[in-house]
Amino acid sequence: MEIVLLPTSEECGRVVADAVAGTLAETRERNGHVVLGLATGSSPLLAYGELARRHREEGLSFADVEGFLLDEYVGLPAGHSESYLEVIRREFTDAAGLDPARVHGPDGTSPDPMAAARDYEERLQAAGPVAVQVLGIGANGHIGFNEPGSSLASPTRVKTLTEQTRRDNARFFGGDPEAVPRHVITQGLGTILRAGHLVLVATGEAKAAAVAAAAEGPVSASCPASALQLHPHVTLVADDAAGSRLEGADHYRYVLEHKLAEQGW
Ligand code: F6R
Repeated sequence: MEIVLLPTSEECGRVVADAVAGTLAETRERNGHVVLGLATGSSPLLAYGELARRHREEGLSFADVEGFLLDEYVGLPAGHSESYLEVIRREFTDAAGLDPARVHGPDGTSPDPMAAARDYEERLQAAGPVAVQVLGIGANGHIGFNEPGSSLASPTRVKTLTEQTRRDNARFFGGDPEAVPRHVITQGLGTILRAGHLVLVATGEAKAAAVAAAAEGPVSASCPASALQLHPHVTLVADDAAGSRLEGADHYRYVLEHKLAEQGW
């Protein structure tokens, strides 16, 4: 795992944008077809803003990109402003010129969420592999909505959010945790680990314990993000606050300072 510690969240956004754009370009050259894995939430917003800026000002194209969401709430009506399909269009894909028909998510409106989860796993398998997957991390170490206790080999399935996650996400629902759906469909840890390149971004002190457990703790279902240690190509980008509990922080900064240009992201 490459751990990139940077002073500000703006710098984190630029590095995540570099990593995403770099892997998309390499994959396009090799496969002629690219799948981008999209997280929602606050963490990737600066990176998405930077990618959209490059699209607008520098001609970075997403025209041939197929986008797949990590997760979706169960039970929000289609078109609800906080459904992740709506959020990603509003926050990123429209501004990046990604055709809405090429942006996919689990069907949280289905009367049979279990079947919708299985269907999404199949759609991902058929379209994949995901070239680069953007990830945030929950304060409890979740990635996607794989809450603590999730199987490290899990496929896409229905999960129950912890009360902490509902409280954390209440800010998107008028501050009311009870308004946050209790169930979600999320890519599993096994699903996420099939992507070619995982780029996790974390900012702020509230993420510091989770980042340290993910990168330096034991691989354990108690910290789902620790599953990233099993993947051969992970870039963990954190600002100084989110990285403040990493024991190896000085070493990670030293490695970054002496990084060879050829090493890329
Ligand atoms: C969202 C997702 C979640 C978030 C995580 C962090 O699609 O999968 O894992 O990345 O809850 O959320 P923020 O970035 O809002 O702190």
